[in-house]
Amino acid sequence: MMYARALDDTFARDVRAGLMRAGQKTLPCRYFYDELGSSLFEAITNLPEYGLTRADERILQKHAAAIVDRLPRNLVVAELGSGTGAKTRPILEKLRQRQIVVYYPIDTSGSALAKCNQDLGRLGAVFPLEMSYLDGLREVAGRRAPGQPLLILFLGSTIGNFEPEAAIDFLHAIRQCLTPGDALLLGTDLVKPAPELLAAYDDPVGVTAAFNKNILARINRELEADFDLRQFEHVARYNQDLQRIEMHLRSREYQIVSIRKADLIVDFVPNETICTEASHKFRLEQVCEMAHAAGFHPEMRWADNEWPFAENLLRAV
Ligand code: AVI
Repeated sequence: MMYARALDDTFARDVRAGLMRAGQKTLPCRYFYDELGSSLFEAITNLPEYGLTRADERILQKHAAAIVDRLPRNLVVAELGSGTGAKTRPILEKLRQRQIVVYYPIDTSGSALAKCNQDLGRLGAVFPLEMSYLDGLREVAGRRAPGQPLLILFLGSTIGNFEPEAAIDFLHAIRQCLTPGDALLLGTDLVKPAPELLAAYDDPVGVTAAFNKNILARINRELEADFDLRQFEHVARYNQDLQRIEMHLRSREYQIVSIRKADLIVDFVPNETICTEASHKFRLEQVCEMAHAAGFHPEMRWADNEWPFAENLLRAV
């Protein structure tokens, strides 16, 4: 309850700050993931145009043994943004062949964590943490026994949803919870031709459009706002220079919106957009540079042949 109330206040503050920004209005993409948004994201991962999640899963299926072979014995696993933990099963299964599995899924969705516990509980000791990434990680770091190695999973290329500097700061914050020798398995979506990316983020069925618009619906539901969703249009753009796909919501007309719990009245001119997400795509050398800058040594990587994506094993130095 306390967590929900704190989230409410932060949500209102973030919405207010993003929509009051001079120039490009923004909304933080982490607010996509309420119950409905998480279901819509799940549907996105099944779209034929969105190959990212299947690539991530294929690599983990195919290389679970090789990944686990590189890790020290007796380690504890923590996953940032685990969701239901479905992708992680092959890693935990391989691990179980040589040790007792101790797994901390960290997520802000209580229902996803409950399913994770139910689905993976048979593989070992599962300790769900309904927390933000870093709060959860600090909790895990505090609970582990002295000398016990840690493997952090940060899959799905969520790192691509951070601005480049913020991505390094975030990896550095993870590094500060670790000791030398601990490992981070980092999923990164790689650069690919713009038409493929545009199709992946603007699918013909309209699932991604619904996912994007749901952020306004969530603001209506939780912050007592009156966005008319029909007056906003989903737009995906590829920014070649910044190597990122951007998702926007474009206002079809002049409109005024009131957001009571954010104490805000905001207007939109025709064609003005709210930028709701940037999804950065990486070159392999950029992943290495980012790892070094954050205090990790890039030790090994596994890539997918069908959809350029890499799983990177980074070692804390
Ligand atoms: C979670 N994240 C890595 C997804 C991405 O591809 O950036 C979110 C997403 N946005 C639109 N489709 C999927």
